[in-house]
Amino acid sequence: MTNITGNTRIFGILADPIHHVKTPQGINRLLETSAFDGVMVPIHVRSEDLADMVRGLRRMNNLDGFVVTVPHKTAMPALCDELTPAAARIGAVNVVRRTADGRLVGGMLDGEGFVAGLRSAGIEPAGRSAYLAGAGGAASAIAYALAQSGVARLTVANRTMAKAEELVTRMKEDFPDLAIAVGTGDPSHHDLVVNGTSLGLRDGDALPLDVERLMPEQVVAEIIMQPPETPLLRAAAARGCKVHFGAPMLASQVALMAEFMGGPAAKERT
Ligand code: ATR
Repeated sequence: MTNITGNTRIFGILADPIHHVKTPQGINRLLETSAFDGVMVPIHVRSEDLADMVRGLRRMNNLDGFVVTVPHKTAMPALCDELTPAAARIGAVNVVRRTADGRLVGGMLDGEGFVAGLRSAGIEPAGRSAYLAGAGGAASAIAYALAQSGVARLTVANRTMAKAEELVTRMKEDFPDLAIAVGTGDPSHHDLVVNGTSLGLRDGDALPLDVERLMPEQVVAEIIMQPPETPLLRAAAARGCKVHFGAPMLASQVALMAEFMGGPAAKERT
């Protein structure tokens, strides 16, 4: 990063608040170990200024792309010129590629990152059954990525049942061969159990599913990164389940994001 010159390509990350963002460390580490002359910088922008900021970024000729995080993911699709199929279906963007003529292509890699994280831990979802708690933005991305990865059966449960039903209906259209249904809080009889809700982020949160029904041979996975051991994972480990932390979802996404923005390609595609 000490060698920034006029030729260095710039990547950004848009967030509010900004102080907690960790993605630049991962991307810059990747850039430093590659031959790509680029750097990622954090950009603090409030929601009311997002459209103005994005208009300016279109004109920034040495910008190749930017990552989009809380709270801008769902506002970003309307500000892009083009969306990947995943971003369009999910209605959220977490990474944007800027083409040489200033066009913005929005992508959504949360789901792909989650599946890549599972695979990096030796957990293969293809051909297995999965239970997913949640039907919001992150959970939808995971549902699509699990379906794309070849999961054989998927159950979606959510506090607001109508949202789970809507997600299942959409997915039936996109994946007619997938056995998919709306479920209850009972995660038993699935190989993989995933918390795709925000429950566990705050002290005192309820558990996202009935942990008493977890079975010892199941893999229980989180998307929540802080703290690494959520109450769900503690309860799952106590019942003899294999647990998968939230952090690999971001770690695996760093390379995918860099590649999407035209930076160094992921060395190992899953
Ligand atoms: P994200 O982008 O992080 O997915 P989101 O789209 O707001 O955020 O989705 C949050 C998810 O966590 C939803 O599935 C939500 O359930 P509802 O659709 O019923 O709102 C779930 N969630 C959040 N707080 C919850 C709570 N207290 N109890 C149960 N589910 C909760």
